[in-house]
Amino acid sequence: MDFHELLVARRSIRRYTTEKIDPEQVKLILEAGLLAPTSKSARAWQFVVVEDADMLERLSMCKPMGAAPVARCPLAVVVAVDSTATEPWVEDGSVAASYMQLQAEALGLGSCWIQVHGRFTADGTPSEEYVQELLGIPEVCPVLCILTFGHKDEQRKSQDIDKLKWENVHIGKF
Ligand SMILES: Cc1cc2nc3c(=O)[nH]c(=O)nc-3n(C[C@H](O)[C@H](O)[C@H](O)COP(=O)(O)O)c2cc1C
Repeated sequence: MDFHELLVARRSIRRYTTEKIDPEQVKLILEAGLLAPTSKSARAWQFVVVEDADMLERLSMCKPMGAAPVARCPLAVVVAVDSTATEPWVEDGSVAASYMQLQAEALGLGSCWIQVHGRFTADGTPSEEYVQELLGIPEVCPVLCILTFGHKDEQRKSQDIDKLKWENVHIGKF
């Protein structure tokens, strides 16, 4: 599969089999994050790898809706960034997260981005604080997202090239 085919095939996968991910594949996914470009080469991200089922269950409660895949996956990578080290921390974290998702797809694995930054738990605590507290992540490192990974247990159609929003592309001026 060439890179364009990979981009077309990638979809968010929210259901996974119970099969563990091979440690070599976990390493490749993390390596992809570590290879991502960052503003001023700050490389201030912190990736917390979680495989413990009990912790995954607790992480899934970081917000009332949209985080269920965390409880169902064999592997999650929590993406936090030291915001005192780089002002565009959201951008740096986002690029690294996308790299990891694309690497997972290239390995035939499914993944989903679970938004944490700007979200709240059921009792109104910022989701970032909830996740920081659970995993001992320092206050200076806001949590951007939780990436879930696993062997796909759902089939999703590839992207439909005919439905791309070309109307959002402006040539020369808006
Ligand atoms: C910034 C961002 C936040 C997202 N947050 C969530 C989330 O909290 N829960 C979830 O299930 N999916 C989440 N997603 C996945 C999107 O729902 C998904 O990418 C979108 O519906 C397009 O579908 P596709 O990835 O299959 O092409 C998020 C994606 C991005 C890029």
